[in-house]
Amino acid sequence: MPIAPVIKEPEALITWAEEQHRGGHTIGVVPTMGYLHEGHVSLVRRAKAECARVVASIFVNPTQFGPKEDLARYPRDLGGDLAKLSAAGVDLVFVPEKEAMYPAGFDTYVVPGEIASTLCGASRPGHFRGVATVVLMLLRMARADRAYFGEKDFQQLAVIRRMAKDLWLGVDVIGCPIVREPDGLAMSSRNVYLSPRERAQAVCLSQALAAVANRVAAGERHAEALRALMRTMIEAADTARVDYVEVVDALTLRPITTLDRDALAAVAVFFGKTRLIDNRQLHI
Ligand code: PAJ
Repeated sequence: MPIAPVIKEPEALITWAEEQHRGGHTIGVVPTMGYLHEGHVSLVRRAKAECARVVASIFVNPTQFGPKEDLARYPRDLGGDLAKLSAAGVDLVFVPEKEAMYPAGFDTYVVPGEIASTLCGASRPGHFRGVATVVLMLLRMARADRAYFGEKDFQQLAVIRRMAKDLWLGVDVIGCPIVREPDGLAMSSRNVYLSPRERAQAVCLSQALAAVANRVAAGERHAEALRALMRTMIEAADTARVDYVEVVDALTLRPITTLDRDALAAVAVFFGKTRLIDNRQLHI
């Protein structure tokens, strides 16, 4: 299997992308931080189905990590990633150095508003500022027509959708379903950090979300009862420490009292030092 070409320089990516556009080809972009799994690959497959050219980026973006977070130990496997992306049919892989994305003198950031103020935005100050900034750069460099993001990071998808609209990016932002392990755990590059005991217990997240969906299907409309249910199920795992368990409006991501519109159940939980997130849409 031929390995997809790798570009490190933004200028080279821009040149390639403009050439594709001159040839009449649409460009789909799949931004990632690498250590790829089936969730990432599902985004590439969707992009392949919808775009003439697909670019994936691999960049562990320092500006979206807090000072006490896992930037230094974030898992990496460039060889494995290139093999997976090539097998999925990407046309180009963009792997910039930190200095190419944030050269000396870099001084401009995108600061998302309200949509980034709840959930992970509340627990991780500055996180979505880093995400929005790097995603804007990547989409511009790749001259993206479409960009693909997972619903696993539901708030990230909402932040990027909002940015694309507010800043007239002219990029279609496409959300893709969460890909799970056979036992229900949402795939994540960070799952590799889990000890066997933590890994076994982490299944409680998807189980709690499924229990909430069942309760809603049975008629429960009180958000607080659903939060309590999730908390009880998750706290039964002794390695789990809840960051948040929430039921929010699916559009604004603000907490709700009553399920009278489309909602989202969302959780962030530490297993040891590893923070995992998961969510489930609640349609009534
Ligand atoms: P990363 O965590 O590598 O995720 C890259 C993309 O894969 C994101 O859109 C994420 O939502 C999606 N993804 C991750 N796990 C998934 C799963 N189990 N099912 C479906 N999609 C999944 O998210 C980031 O990187 C970064 O914040 C980034 C957008 C690249 C900006 O730095």
